[in-house]
Amino acid sequence: MNVLRIFYLVLFFLINKSLSSKCTTTRTGNDVFTDCHGKGFRYVPRNVPNDTTCLDLSDNELSVISNFAFSRLKYVSSLKLSSAQISVIESKAFSGLVKLTSLDLRNNTLDIHSLLENVFNSLPFLRILDLSQNNFQQYPEKVLENLSDLERLSINGINDQTFGNGFRSLSKLTYLNFHPCSITRMDNNTFDVFKNIQLKELILNCKIRYVEPGALNPFQSIERLDISRNFNVRISYLLQLLNGLMDRNVTSIDFSNNFRTIPAADVLLASQFAMIGAVCVKEVDLTRNQIISIQSGGINLMKHKNCLEKLILKENSIWGDRSLAIEMVKLVNLRWLDISNQATIHVKTNAYKNKTCLRRLDMTDTNYFSDRLTFVFQLPHNLQYIDASYLGVKVLV
Ligand SMILES: *[C@@H]1O[C@H](CO)[C@@H](O)[C@H](O)[C@H]1NC(C)=O
Ligand SMILES: *[C@@H]1O[C@H](CO)[C@@H](O)[C@H](O)[C@H]1NC(C)=O
Ligand SMILES: *[C@@H]1O[C@H](CO)[C@@H](O)[C@H](O)[C@H]1NC(C)=O
Ligand SMILES: *[C@@H]1O[C@H](CO)[C@@H](O)[C@H](O)[C@H]1NC(C)=O
Ligand SMILES: *[C@@H]1O[C@H](CO)[C@@H](O)[C@H](O)[C@H]1NC(C)=O
Ligand SMILES: *[C@@H]1O[C@H](CO)[C@@H](O)[C@H](O)[C@H]1NC(C)=O
Repeated sequence: MNVLRIFYLVLFFLINKSLSSKCTTTRTGNDVFTDCHGKGFRYVPRNVPNDTTCLDLSDNELSVISNFAFSRLKYVSSLKLSSAQISVIESKAFSGLVKLTSLDLRNNTLDIHSLLENVFNSLPFLRILDLSQNNFQQYPEKVLENLSDLERLSINGINDQTFGNGFRSLSKLTYLNFHPCSITRMDNNTFDVFKNIQLKELILNCKIRYVEPGALNPFQSIERLDISRNFNVRISYLLQLLNGLMDRNVTSIDFSNNFRTIPAADVLLASQFAMIGAVCVKEVDLTRNQIISIQSGGINLMKHKNCLEKLILKENSIWGDRSLAIEMVKLVNLRWLDISNQATIHVKTNAYKNKTCLRRLDMTDTNYFSDRLTFVFQLPHNLQYIDASYLGVKVLV
């Protein structure tokens, strides 16, 4: 029995040895990168060089992170523990990681019970935390409460869960990504706890069905907003959210790929399209929203039409109407316009152009429309790029 036990111990030791030696360490200047990803580790290897600054332990089978697992590694600033089948993290697991600024725990099986209240308290400089793709049914508010230096957070978006004091404490947060996100409602008070946080980027690829017009009101510092891939909601309805950002300066709004219910269609009324101009926004992406028509007059109604520099309407089914095209010239600062790939009858229009001085788009197709009317309209003066290839046939006649 004893001999067998010793044998197993030796075997264990040898396996441990050979596994650990599979990590590779690369030194460049002051950076020491130790790469242990995808090696089948069941625990944190013991012979990671103690001057390591960046440690990648992703794609392993760690399951438990024990107390003091990294205590020798005082210089690690970036720790990757993604896809490592972790479900338990002991309360002093990260003890000693005094320089840690970035912790990636994406795609494990963590839930509210895996993270004890003080688990991140030994990490005074943590700025980036990725908890996305875990099993949270509630937000780990208690754990978030002491992360007052956190700047970037990715986490599951949970339906029917309110945001509490944990989020309210993240006073330096600039980036928030819910992934995956099952949130279905955005009420006027949903995001109240974010009111005093200067969030710059917000990503909501969720399951939104219901919104109230003031829901985004707490995000008065937002620069980049991504409300794409909410497959159950029409863009014509979602646009009312811009009420909450009225008159703000925003760099980009991604409203692409909403409403994938098939087969269906959406019509943007002038007043709905005009909501884009309620905000002083530079770039708007409306790709793939099953828009079949945009009522004319919308551009005229836009309050901040001078702000728009880039407009992407590709991959809809817009057959539109001429007056909207004629209004386009009023977007005086528009530099980039993509209206390509409208999914009606595809006709190659040869209208792909890239000229700084482009002034007119001549929408004829020499093969198909040789004896049809040519529809000529004026383009915005600052336009530098336009893609109008594969426009639906109805635009052209
Ligand atoms: C790192 O390990 C070496 C020996 O392997 C030791 O001499 C040194 O003191 C250790 N450094 C730290 C900061 O622990
Ligand atoms: C998530 O982790 C599981 C198990 O570790 C792995 O099989 C899967 O490929 C990972 N998925 C992603 C998106 O990283
Ligand atoms: C946050 O930190 C304070 C003091 O540093 C401590 O008293 C408190 O218990 C911590 N809260 C949590 C939830 O860990
Ligand atoms: C939400 O706020 C908007 C103003 O931003 C207001 O017009 C609307 O009535 C509010 N809706 C509800 C249900 O409170
Ligand atoms: C938006 O930007 C303009 C020009 O930079 C500035 O004058 C204006 O005050 C800004 N508006 C807001 C609400 O920040
Ligand atoms: C347009 O043309 C210029 C000069 O030929 C090039 O530098 C630029 O990348 C082009 N832009 C696009 C979007 O193709």
